[in-house]
Amino acid sequence: MVNALGKLKDLYQNTLLIIIEPTEGPILQIQGKFLETLRARLSIAEVVGEKVKLTRKGREFMGLCPFHHEKTPSFTVNEEKEFYHCFGCGAHGDAIGFLMEAQKYSFMEAVKELASRVGLSLPEETSEKGGTSQEDLTPLRQVLQEASAWFHNNLFLARYSESLRYAERRSLKTETLKKFNIGFAPEGSSPLEKYLKTKGFSDEILLAAGLLAQGETTRPPYERFRKRLMFPIQDAQGRVVAFGGRLLDKGEPKYLNSPETPLFSKGKLLYGYYQAKEKANTEPLIVVEGYMDVISLHQAGFKGAVAPLGTALTEDQIVLAWRLSPEPILCFDGDGAGLKAAARAAERVLPLLKPGYSLRFAILPQGEDPDSLVQKGDRFQMVLNQAHSLVDALWLFLTHGKNFKTPEQKAALQKQCALWTQGIQDGEIKKHYHYAFKDLFYKNIVGKKANIQSLSPLRKTNLNLSSIYEHLLLAILINHPILLDEASDDLASLEFKEPKLHDLRNGILHFYAAGPLDEMNLKDYLLKQGFEKELDDIFSSRVLIHGAFASPSSSFEGAREGWKEIFNRIQHGLGKKDLQEAQEHLAEEMSEEAWHRLKALKKTTLLQY
Ligand code: CTP
Ligand code: MN
Repeated sequence: MVNALGKLKDLYQNTLLIIIEPTEGPILQIQGKFLETLRARLSIAEVVGEKVKLTRKGREFMGLCPFHHEKTPSFTVNEEKEFYHCFGCGAHGDAIGFLMEAQKYSFMEAVKELASRVGLSLPEETSEKGGTSQEDLTPLRQVLQEASAWFHNNLFLARYSESLRYAERRSLKTETLKKFNIGFAPEGSSPLEKYLKTKGFSDEILLAAGLLAQGETTRPPYERFRKRLMFPIQDAQGRVVAFGGRLLDKGEPKYLNSPETPLFSKGKLLYGYYQAKEKANTEPLIVVEGYMDVISLHQAGFKGAVAPLGTALTEDQIVLAWRLSPEPILCFDGDGAGLKAAARAAERVLPLLKPGYSLRFAILPQGEDPDSLVQKGDRFQMVLNQAHSLVDALWLFLTHGKNFKTPEQKAALQKQCALWTQGIQDGEIKKHYHYAFKDLFYKNIVGKKANIQSLSPLRKTNLNLSSIYEHLLLAILINHPILLDEASDDLASLEFKEPKLHDLRNGILHFYAAGPLDEMNLKDYLLKQGFEKELDDIFSSRVLIHGAFASPSSSFEGAREGWKEIFNRIQHGLGKKDLQEAQEHLAEEMSEEAWHRLKALKKTTLLQY
């Protein structure tokens, strides 16, 4: 990302760069020259130094890399060349790139921030939304900030004690109330308006900020938020741009939001984004439905929780979420409406997909929301652990609880998969979806008979562990042949103890080497090669109870994790066994040769694990 931007900037050094800013709307035009001036005036060591402790080493500065964990510094900053570079992880960029990568600014935000630090004004400042210039927005920002502070203060006043009691009833701690600046809007004869007027704000500003609302008649404007717990909505820089308010008592509407204003567009912000941004490198980004879910999750330690603002997740919000995490986890209710919403989100993201970026889908138990789940121990974490990848989620939405027996039903299923695949803009991803859907179709529709119905009763087995591992590895690959793209070398390196399984392994490698995976089902091929008995063994429940990830219905990621885990265990186990043997050998025969053998083995096993 940073490298690409760097190149872009070099390329366009003296031409006109037009940057489309998805989160704030305006199209700003920036001259390449401008960026050059900006970089020249900046001290990159100063910018980086705000986040990383740097010490001077000759012409460069060194510090601990903020992009990966390390104990000895391999991160350098070069003032002369105006870049940072990490020899450990390869992170590289200029001051703008640093703000983008380390502080999660968008390109324009970083440029604006840095320009204001060195006193440069942006060339096209007036092209902000609706032709309103930066100055016009200042009173709006100020009045929202004042209102927010006033609401927050109210929460702790004795005369509004019902509001704090409500917050406590919802298990909110003082620390949380402060972190999110939660407040209270009382009812009464326009208390907020009176307060803000003493601060010099006019009716027009209050109306423009959405704090006052104008009825249809000619009556005077009234206060929008009354007797509500108030949630300030912040933009990516933490500035208050709007409010959401929840009634303390039962009533309608339960939640009320500020209207759209020059500062606030509800489809373009995520509630909690500013707080989640701080933890973006360590916490999974979790997209939930409501304010209370975000706040409860943060309080319970899930500091990457965000929510849209009362609407379904928009494209802008997906792009915004991707700034913090390549695979945000979306949470949905397990009821019919929730699953429909999840399916719509899954469809919406297809045209936006780019390599490495996707969504995951966590389905909540019916009747629960994240807020209610975190009050019940670790159940929310379990829901997250079971999140589906996008491709698996799409397949699930399409096939869950349905039968595909007739040719027409099967064709309809394939047609929908093809439509989704066509909707993907990125060529590489499109190709992979094509194969992934084919694979799912053959495994779950054509090969349904081999499906293991229940993996739950854990029965004693008379297979020994290494034999179970061998069976599981083969089961994973036969059910997820796509994994062969990355696992075929490892597979080829393994020695199977059972000769028939060894042959079957060779059969799989042969099938893989022979060509495109989709032309023939791997399982059919192995059956034709006479491995019927081995396949029966591999897919017997006494094997599969040891690893659900090996079953045909497991997700691709699940299968992949399972493969890695078992492969490592085999190597580890074998490594340890060899070590033990060598030790015994040395005890029997104190020879130089035996000692060297042990030493060599110790070295390799240590290196590997
Ligand atoms: N919402 C809204 N207007 C409403 C109801 C809901 O804008 N009349 C939005 C709010 O952003 C809210 C979210 O939808 O946070 C989820 O609403 P809901 O599921 O009804 O409430 P919860 O988040 O569970 O809130 P609570 O636990 O306070 O009832
Ligand atoms: Mn709730």
